[in-house]
This record gives sequence, C-alpha cells and structure tokens, in this order.
Amino acid sequence: MSPQPVAPDREVTAPRTGVTHRVHLAASGVSVLLDVTDGRVPAIAHWGRALGALGPEGMDALCEVTVPPVPQNLVDVPVRVGLLPQVSDGWLGRPGLAGSRPDGSGWTPRLITRGLRIDGTPLTDAHAETGAAHVEIDLEDPEEGLAVLLELELLPTGLLRLRARLTNTGTGPYRLDELTLSLPVPATADELQDFAGRWTKERTPQRRAFTVGTHLRENRRGRTGADSAHLLHAGRPGFGFREGEVWAVHTAFSGNHRHLAERTSSDQRLLGGGELLLPGEVALEQGGTYESPWLYASYGDGLDQVAARFHRHLRSRPHHVDARRPVTLNVWEAVYFDHDLERLTDLADRAAALGVERFVLDDGWFGSRRDDTSGLGDWVVSPEAWPDGLGPLIDHVRALGMEFGIWFEPEMVNEDSDVARAHPEWIMAPSPERMPLRSRNQQVLNLSIPEAYAHVRDQMLALLGAHEIGCIKWDQNRDLLESATRATGRAAVHDQTRAAYRLMDELRTAHPGLEIEACASGGARVDLGVLEHTDRVWVSDCIDPLERQQMHRWTSQLIPLELMGSHIASGRSHTTGRLHTLGFRAHSALMGHLGIEWDLAAASEEELAELTAWITLYKERRELLFTGDLVRADRGESPLWLQGVVSPDQGEALFALSAVGRADTAQHPRLVLPGLDPAAAYRVRALLPSGPPSHLTAPPWLSRVLEADGAVLPGAALAVAGLAAPLLDPEQGLLLSLTRESAAGASR
Ligand code: DGJ
Repeated sequence: MSPQPVAPDREVTAPRTGVTHRVHLAASGVSVLLDVTDGRVPAIAHWGRALGALGPEGMDALCEVTVPPVPQNLVDVPVRVGLLPQVSDGWLGRPGLAGSRPDGSGWTPRLITRGLRIDGTPLTDAHAETGAAHVEIDLEDPEEGLAVLLELELLPTGLLRLRARLTNTGTGPYRLDELTLSLPVPATADELQDFAGRWTKERTPQRRAFTVGTHLRENRRGRTGADSAHLLHAGRPGFGFREGEVWAVHTAFSGNHRHLAERTSSDQRLLGGGELLLPGEVALEQGGTYESPWLYASYGDGLDQVAARFHRHLRSRPHHVDARRPVTLNVWEAVYFDHDLERLTDLADRAAALGVERFVLDDGWFGSRRDDTSGLGDWVVSPEAWPDGLGPLIDHVRALGMEFGIWFEPEMVNEDSDVARAHPEWIMAPSPERMPLRSRNQQVLNLSIPEAYAHVRDQMLALLGAHEIGCIKWDQNRDLLESATRATGRAAVHDQTRAAYRLMDELRTAHPGLEIEACASGGARVDLGVLEHTDRVWVSDCIDPLERQQMHRWTSQLIPLELMGSHIASGRSHTTGRLHTLGFRAHSALMGHLGIEWDLAAASEEELAELTAWITLYKERRELLFTGDLVRADRGESPLWLQGVVSPDQGEALFALSAVGRADTAQHPRLVLPGLDPAAAYRVRALLPSGPPSHLTAPPWLSRVLEADGAVLPGAALAVAGLAAPLLDPEQGLLLSLTRESAAGASR
C-alpha cells in the first residue's frame, strides 16, 4: 500500500488557528481559571481557593507561571492537560476522547478551540473575569470530522460542573468508546478517598495514597451500584470533615460509569469521570451526537465544605422538595408480599394515629406477583390479591388524611409474566437464543424499544390516572448483565438509562407534583443524574440503625438530609438480626426523610407512645433539618460520633451524639460543635423522647443541660474549646438542641 500524502497543516509544528482566551470565574470562595492558549483544549490553570480579582495581567501571569517545564525525554513542548486530554497535545495518560472510524482512523484527534461563549454571549476579548457563569467552548477537528461542545459551569454555590457534546461532522460513521472529562488537582492532594459497599452495606469509605498510576472505579452494573465510588476525593493527607483542602468529583449518571484519579510520572494529577460505554454502544452516523453526563466537582476546606456545595446546589433547584417532608410509612418490612386489605387498612389506621402523613404500598400489588418469581412487568392490579381493586385501600388512606404512594419496578420483568410471554423480544439479551443469567429471578425490560417503553408508560399512567397517587417508589433490583437489544445483540445500557430518565419525566409531566423515590435493591441508585428526575433515594435495604449511622454519614457527603429515605424499623433488624432500642433506632433515623417500616400491630402501647414522641419531634425540627447546614465533627477514631445541623443564620442547631461503639479509653476527646457562632451564647437543651441513654455519665455541663430549661453556654466553649464528652453505652444516642441567646456568657 502506498503511503498517503500528509496534509501540510497536520504537521507537528504547524501553528494552530484557534483562539487565546483566559477566563476567571469565582463564586462562594472558589476560583476557576481557564486557559485557552492558541486554540488548545481548555486547561484549568487553577481550581480551588478563591484568587481575588486578577485582571487581564494577573490572569496571564497565573496562566504563565503554572505552565510546567518541557520534560526531558518527552515531547518538546510543555504538556498542559486539557479538560479533554488528548494524545496530540503530548498527553500520554488516559485520553479524554477514544473512538475510531471503521478503517481505524480518527482515534487521535487534535481538537482546537474555535471560540467560547459566557452565559450565551460570544467572548470577543481575550480575557473575561466574572462570578458564577456558564461557559460553552467550541472545539473542532475538521480533518477527523469531530466537533465538541464543552460546557463548564461554575454554580453560585462554588460547585463546578462539566459536560461535553460530541458531534460526528465527518462523512462516515464514528464509533465512540469513551469520553472522560478531567480536572487537575495540585500535588498537595496526596490522599484519595472514595467509597465501596455492597447490598445492605452501601457507601463504605476507603482511603489510599495518591500514587503514580490510575485509581480507576469502573461500574458495569447498569445502575449506580451499591459499591459505587459515589464521590472521589483527593486532598491533603489526613483531610477531615472540618479541615484539609480537598477536591472531589462525582459522575452524575445512573448507568455504567467511571471515576478515576490519575497521577503521571511527571506528577500531573487528575480527577475525572464519565459514562462507561459498552463496545459499539454509541456509533455516530454523520451529524450524530453524544452527550456526556455532568461531571460535578467540588472544592472545600474539609469534607463538610465539599458536601455543603452539593447540598446548597440541590436545594437551589426550583423543583427541590419542600422542607416539610411528610412522615412516611412503607409497608415492605411490615407485610412483604402478604397483601391483605384488612391488614393494610389496620396498618394505615395505626400509622395515622401516630401522625404519619404518607402511606406507601410496596411490591406485590400487581399481576401474579405473590412472591419475587412471577408477575414483574405486569402493572395491572391483581384481582387475586385485591378483589375490589386498590380503591378501598387508597380511599381509606386518604380519608385518614395521608397521601398514598405505590411501588413500581418499570425497567424489569419476570419471565413468568404476561408481558414477557407476549413480547420475549423486549427482554434484554445478547442474542435471540441466549438469555443473561437471572438475578432475583428477573430480567431487564428493554425500554429503548419504543413499543416496550409505551407499554410500561401506559400501564403506569392508567394506574396514576385511576387513583389519587402522590408518589412512586421506583425500584430497580438487578445489575444489567449482557444487556442488549435481543434482536440485534447491540449493547443498550446507555439507551436504557436515558429511557428510564425519560419515563420518569413523562410521568411527572403528566402528573405535576408526583414525587418519585429512587431505589435499587436499597441504595444502589444514589447519584445526581437520577436526582434530576426524582425526589428522594432509598439509602439501603438495611435499616439497622448502627449500619445506618455510617451510611447516612457518607450518603450525605453528596445529598442533603431531606433526600435520604430514613426509616424506623422493628427492634430486631431484618437484615442483620441485631436488636436495638427504639431510642437508638429513632435517633439514627431522625436526620433524614423520616419514615416507619415496621408492623405496627406488633408494637406495644409504650412503643407507639414513644414513636409518637419522635414523630412530633421530627415535625417540629424538619424545617431546620432540611434548610440548615450539615456539620460533622471529626473525631478520628473515637466511636462517639457528632453530627449537627445549624441554621444558616447560626441561630438554631440540632446536634446528635451517637455512640457507634465502645471507646478504647476511659474518656472520649472533647466535643467541638462546629458551625456555631463563637461570639454568641446558646441555650442548650437535651431532647429525650425515649428518656436518657443507658448508663449516661454526664459531665457537669451536661447535668445542667439535662435540667428542664437547659443551660446557657458560650459559643466559644461549644464551637472552639470543646466540651468534656459524656459516657454512654454503645448504640445509644443523645440529641442536643441549641438556640442562640442575645448575648454571650455562661449563666443559667
Ligand atoms: C428492594 C427495595 O429496596 C425494598 O425496599 C423493597 O421495595 C423491595 N425491593 C421490594 O421488592
């Protein structure tokens, strides 16, 4: 084969024809300095602590001083990594864009920046300095026939997000293998923290040194995953809740995805993420486009600040939930598949008497679904379980003043179902002949097939149209193995995920006000992608309060408390077998969207009275819980955990002291209650709906607090010097309520 002529403008030394721009964005203590030099893919010269006003000279100087030296024995230009790193810029780490043409070409694009817009206005000057803003950057490689619209948005909360839309502008098809966006972090970020987990033990933290190589978290489950990376942090060694600079990324997607932390031998450090595409999943014809999910990025001094940016952003959305989150009763652990009108109306009566405001009927109301082997996918009320339909139960629940909610699992089927029998081609499978392994006895229904989508949508809409239904629990109980369109064998996880989002939106458009809870075998769908279409997540199938302490602590690293479903279950946990007092169960559930998941017919009168007191307390405090700032004290290895919520004006706070184990030493470290005004004084009261925790040994300050009116303590003692810690038995908790008094001082 004769060598192909090389176009002169593709030579290495050819000048780029792109633009040069420097853009400085700053909001809520965060600066982002974007460097587009001579049309190169935009690089981040700084992302982190606010820099103050820079002016054009300052921006140029900062961009210049952060350019690395020309490395020895590498390419002859400094390698500045772009948001979409590419080999043609000398980058030999993971490329941001991977793909090719059928003849093998097109795998190493040289994208060039052609122009950018800030909040929709084209930037004509070389420099721009502004607050929170949305920047769109046009990149293209006309030779390879590729164009990318890169979006970078600094939100008012200081949270940063990025996404890219790739267009095939060439003549033939282009197969996309990967699009990963990356952000640099400084060399001081020497330690990584992300998460692992499994069913009933979601979001367990893991730490490691940020060494040379790639810490790659790939998810091929077709759902976010109980073991998802959740948030990938890089920070100064030992970073804690309240101190240590830390940078974090989160890929906002509920299908296959990745997070990565990469450190090169030249000590460039990146955090990145994107969707994980299966082979051949995205093949773009001429003019075809692919849009990546958002990659969110948060910087803070300590983990609380990182979390606060996410929380404030989520709360600022127009469709964010009301702070008066209704107390919910979910019937799952109370009755499982035993659906019986009399039993459930009795449960509804008992729930309403406690002050419950929402009643959710779980799995088992439809088709032949009397256990988990059959009927999934047939969203028609079962005449066997419900001879008179759901009307009598729904009417009863509503007459009691409660909202009614119902469970669906729209993306799934049992092979033993009417829908699977009628349309076996709608089941996801690698070929017409071969089915994937079953998981929880079920298979995946291909919502990317328009007829399958319409069938599920119409059955759901029929039920929603027939009854007053305020919310849906949207479950998803299996990983997606070999999930392809059965007729063609083509992988379809990408399309399936997008179709699920679309269906959620269609339902909400048809029924404004309808809430959706995202659930996946418990907490395997906790991500900001799904939360654009839903209103709460179910944290875990494990309601054991000791396990929930850890899960809530880390789920709330990403999402605020009002989005975390948090229930009080029976005394013996159904998933761990552990026994806990009602006090500790309720104490651990309080800081979340409170619910009950317990057969109340089995509860004693004393327990019901205690439960009523907790529900009353939740209702009194929910606006504080769901508008205040989450603060967590970093107690290192001490098993006495301290977490609180402080109102934005620092006037009110609620702190929970939780003994998650037994201390090695006779005394815990002092308790510092973060987030309070050190110059103010606070009246501190103990809230004891279940009475004092067992074997409470109170230091003098707490003895005073335990008196009826509480005690006034100076903010400097509470928030700076710290309080001597009480002793209490393991798996016990204590709640402290704080209200600012007008002047500082310590009196009664
Ligand atoms: C898994 C969920 O996490 C549970 O709460 C329950 O809804 C079951 N699925 C029902 O099958």
